[in-house]
Order: sequence, then structure tokens, then C-alpha cells
Amino acid sequence: MESELIGLLLLVIFAWIAGSKASRLVYSPNTERLHRKARKQLFWAGYILVPAAAVLTAIVLMILSLNSAFWQDRAFLHAPLVAIPVLSVFVMAVPKLVRLRKGTKAASEAEVPLEADVRGHSAEPGLIVPFQATALGALTAFYYSMSAPVPFQWDDTVPLVLFLVAVAGLWVRHDRRYWKVSHPNTVVRYRPWVMLLRNLSVLIIVVLAAGGVFYVSMQNSRLPEQMDMMSGVVDYGGGAVAAANDHAHHSSGNTSSSSANSNPAVSVSQLTGPRTGTPDRKFTLTAEKATVRLSSGKSVDAWTYNGQIPGPELRIKQGELIEVTLNNKDIEQGATIHWHGLDVPNAEDGVAGVTQDSVMPGETYTYRFVAEQAGTFWYHSHQQSKEAVQKGLFGALIVEPKTDDMDPKVKDITLMTHRWNETFAVSVSDSVERMSIEPGTPVRLRLVNTDDWVRQKYQLTGTPFQVSAIDGSDLHQPEVIENTLLELTTGGRYDITFVMPDTPVFMGIGGKNKLGLFMSPDGKGDIPDNSTVAATTFNPAAYGSTGPVPFHAASRFDRNFTMILDNKLGFYNGQFNNLYTINGEVFPDTPMFMVREGELVKTTIINRGAVDHPMHLHGHHMLVLSRNGKPVTGTWWSDTLDVLPGDTYEVAFRADNPGIWMDHCHNLVHAAAGMTMHLMYEGVTSPFTIGSATRNHPE
Ligand code: C2O
Ligand code: CU
Repeated sequence: MESELIGLLLLVIFAWIAGSKASRLVYSPNTERLHRKARKQLFWAGYILVPAAAVLTAIVLMILSLNSAFWQDRAFLHAPLVAIPVLSVFVMAVPKLVRLRKGTKAASEAEVPLEADVRGHSAEPGLIVPFQATALGALTAFYYSMSAPVPFQWDDTVPLVLFLVAVAGLWVRHDRRYWKVSHPNTVVRYRPWVMLLRNLSVLIIVVLAAGGVFYVSMQNSRLPEQMDMMSGVVDYGGGAVAAANDHAHHSSGNTSSSSANSNPAVSVSQLTGPRTGTPDRKFTLTAEKATVRLSSGKSVDAWTYNGQIPGPELRIKQGELIEVTLNNKDIEQGATIHWHGLDVPNAEDGVAGVTQDSVMPGETYTYRFVAEQAGTFWYHSHQQSKEAVQKGLFGALIVEPKTDDMDPKVKDITLMTHRWNETFAVSVSDSVERMSIEPGTPVRLRLVNTDDWVRQKYQLTGTPFQVSAIDGSDLHQPEVIENTLLELTTGGRYDITFVMPDTPVFMGIGGKNKLGLFMSPDGKGDIPDNSTVAATTFNPAAYGSTGPVPFHAASRFDRNFTMILDNKLGFYNGQFNNLYTINGEVFPDTPMFMVREGELVKTTIINRGAVDHPMHLHGHHMLVLSRNGKPVTGTWWSDTLDVLPGDTYEVAFRADNPGIWMDHCHNLVHAAAGMTMHLMYEGVTSPFTIGSATRNHPE
């Protein structure tokens, strides 16, 4: 992809030079000079060919190796924008140049001023415009690479139309000049100042026009002061409802609020956990500022739950009714609690402006839900999440299986990794922790990466192990592995299990021996040598075997959504930036996926961009069906799926938890820059609003 971009840039430059040289042929002082210049111009036709061929080769290679979503635009837009003008150079301009050379040959010895007809031949539009069109075509293709028209929208045609208009305009202009200079009475003088002035004025007009477009798109990108989650562009994923409601949606321009269907509306506030009944466990979390010390002595000005970072680990048992009271002491921005990965009822999901109002200083909010799944989860504030999580408003949420299935001997350790300012730490430990564990003890390490740093490296040495669970869901028959590097995406969790040997074991974090957990029978000893460990990276798509699943790749899906992740240059909330887009847009122009309760939903997630995006869907676990066309071997349920550049995943879930659910990149920097959308259930509405005029800023 980079070679395509470089090729396009070179093509713009070469063709630009060639075009301006071609249009100056007519100013040759005499026939001999024209003869020589025409020869040079033929060379320029050759120079153009090199970058053009590079671009086309890069595109062909992409077609051969990648899914069509990666190259459709390149094959059908970039390639013609390059190939057609270059072809016109060879079928139109080159023969004219050859003829021009023949026509000036006889006179080439003598220094004769140009005859009117020779002047005409050297100023023919067919000789000049193909070079200029090549430059403009490559420029247009370059624009399309920076802002891919995928999926296609009508306003994506604007640059193409501008290109065609510009080429037509150049043709008209050169045609007029051609008639002028071929007239015997015309005196042709090379007036560089006049040309410079003319070019300058064209440049000024273009810059002003571009500036206008720039300004308007900047203003348009400002987020509304107040909006709700029901307004936006609905994507029906080709579902049954789309057909049934077709008329209604056409009349409203494909934008529709969820009131357009027949179900009586339900507010997210009604979709609560059990409101009555004595809770099995009660917790109180107070959001407050605190200065906390890391083990090295470094101090961190943190936003905390209960004055500690991470917040207290909440340990509960599957099936229990939980009640958590959130108090906000002094976090002026407000706070909430989102139960990341736990599929709670919608009203308990803790997203400011979607399922509740942000809890401001002095306020209180109570969450009540039954923990249905057992596994490793975490909680964090979902009000200004990027800042809140970076500063420490998060903690571990561990749901243990029901008492009778639980081995009481298990040494169960949570390792939450985070970066405090520039220091990486596990909880508050920013060096190697030592722990004594009796040989023979079953050990479970729960790895949670809470950092915006997209991926964290974990390496266990000294024992074989299993990855028993991903994102809080157990794997089926996970193989015992060794010497395997684990890379965990932000928001994701891996549960690692092994039986403690009588020799030391080390869980190294961040690829060095400076951070991690050292375990040995007496807590003493040396870190096992891991310098020679083979660097295979754990691949969840080829691990474990298929257990019982409620649906699979061959099931009939009620909805098929496509989520294309990419980058483009553009505005978000008035700021020009490199944007991370979903289906070409940033929030609030990203699509809303609409489903109906009970449906089976498939989503194809494609990353065309340059960086990873851990995509996190609230309220549901996605069964990963395939990666890059290959079926996943195990039973891999994910709630935070790390989609790498070039990856295509197929995932599926049952729409069994009605509500309005965020679906966003869990690199919270990306989410805060607009890489967020939501999943909607038909008939569900939200009374809450977000925007600068409200207190709610979920990202
Ligand atoms: Cu862990 Cu929407 O977030
Ligand atoms: Cu991202």
C-alpha cells in the first residue's frame, strides 16, 4: 500500500513536469530547438511509465493476495485514474511528438523561427493535455488513497467529477491557444511573467475554494451540542425488517429513528436488573482523586475508586445478585461504572448518555444485576472513558464459577497491566513481584490489559501452560503450550493456567525481565532464562477445539453487517486529524446496526487501516467464526477482538440482550476521536443525551 502511495506521488511530480514542458514547446525560439525539445518530451513519456507501472503492479499484487474490500477501490478507481491518462499519453501525445520531430527535421540544421503550422502542431491539445491529465489523475487517486470511498457514498464522486471537469477545462483552453498560435498573424512571445501571474491566480482560486471546503467541513464536523443515540444512519444488515419497512425508510432518506417500527417503545431505563430482592453481595465504590504510590516510590495523581489503583477487585460468584453503589466524591468530569465483558441488562451497562446520566460530584447511582457468566472481567468508568481509564477509574471484576465447580486449592491471581504516565505497572507494582507457591498447586493467572497501548506482551517461562479462557469465556480443550508469547489487546483478557512445578516460573510483562510476577516454592531464586525462547505468538484462531456452540458459520443469519475499519484525513469536532473510521465515518456519522430481539447476527470486520483496532461490543459475546477466510479451530468467544491491519474476521452473536449497546474501538484514544458506533434493538429508546450542552461524554 505504501508502494502505491509513493508511486502515485512520483507520478504526480513527473507528469506535472512533463505537462508544463509540453505546454512550453510552442515557445521554442527556432525549429532546431523545437526538434530537440520534442525528443526530450518523448523521454518524459517514458519517465512517467515507471511510477505508473509501480502503482499498477502494487494494485495487482493486492488483488492477488487480499480480500476484495482491500482493493475494490484501487482496482476500479485508482487503476483507471492512472492507466487511462497514461494510455492517452502513448496513443495521443507520443504519435504527435513523433510527427512533430519529423516535421522539424529538415529544418533542424537551420535556426529558423517557427512557422505558424509548426507552432500549431507543437501546441495541439492532444499533445499537452494527456500529460497534465496524468498528473491530475494521479493526484485524484492519491486523494482517494488518503480518504478511501469504502463503502461507497455519493459524495465520494466529487473528486472524480472535479478531475473530469479540470481535464475538460484544460482541453478547451489548449484548444483555444492552438487556434491562436496556428494563425500566421499571431506573434508568439514567451512571457514568463504573464504565465506566472496566470498560474498564480489559478492557484489562488484553487486555494480559496479548497479553504472554503475545508472550513465548511470543519464546521460540519463539530459535534452537536445535544443529541441522542436514536438519531443517525441506520444499517439494517439486510435484515427482514429492512425489506418490510422499505417504504418508510426511503421516504426519510434511509435515516430513521427507531420509532418507525411497530413494537411499542421500551426505554433503556426499563431494561434493568432485578430491582427488588436482597443482594448476595454489596459493594460501594467511591470515585475520588488520590495520590497513589507505585512500588518503586513513584507517585501518581490518579482518579480512583476507593482511593486505590486499580479499584478494589470485585470477586463474586456466578448467579449471585450484585448491588454496587457508586458515589462520586470529587471527579468533576463525572463518573459511571461499565462492566466490561459482563453481559448485564442494558440499564446497568454504565454508559453516560446512553444508559444513564453521568454521576456528578455528590451524586450516587446504584447498579443491580445477576452475574450470569463466570470469568475474568473488569469495570471502568464510561464517562470520558479515555481520560478516566488512563487516570485509574477501573478495577478487576472476577466472577467465580458456582461453589461446587471451584477447586478451592487454586491460586488465583489477577494481573492488571496499565501505564501510569510513562511507567508500566501491574496494579501498583512497577518491578518484579515475588510470590511463593507450593509445588503442585493449580495456578490461574488472569491477565487484563487496561492500557491504551494497543497490545501488551506476556511471556510465561519455566512451565508449560494452557490459555484456559479468553475475554471471560472458557476455551474448549485448550492445548498445553510452551515458549509462546502472548499478546493481549487493550480491554482483552487471557486466563493462563498451569500446575506449579518445584522450579521457578516467571510471567514477564512487556518483553523484558523488569516487570512481572516471579513464582517459586519459597519466593526465592533466579528468573528462568528466557533469552532463547522461541518467538511464536499465541494465535487464538488456531487453538483448542470446537465445543458445543449454539450456532456456527453455516447457520442462517438474520442480519449480515460489514464493519470496515480504516483511516482517513479529515475533521472530527472541528479538528483536522488522521481519523480512525468505521465504514468511512466517525461518530456520529458512523452507522447504527439495527437488530430485533432473538435474531442471529453476523458481522464481517475488515481492517483496511494502518493500525490495530480492538473492537469491543457491549452486552454480547461474539463467537469468532473465521479469520482471513480460515475457520477458527476452537470455540473462541470474544468481547474485545483485536483486528490487525489486513485482517478480516467473521463474528456472530445472538441478539438476546435488548438495549442500546456501544460498539467501539477499545484503544480509547481512537474511541475518543470518533471510532465508535452502537448496536440498537428495534423499539428501544434512550431518554439520555450526549454533547457539549449535556453532562454526558461517554468516550
Ligand atoms: Cu471497556 Cu465501551 O468499554
Ligand atoms: Cu482503534
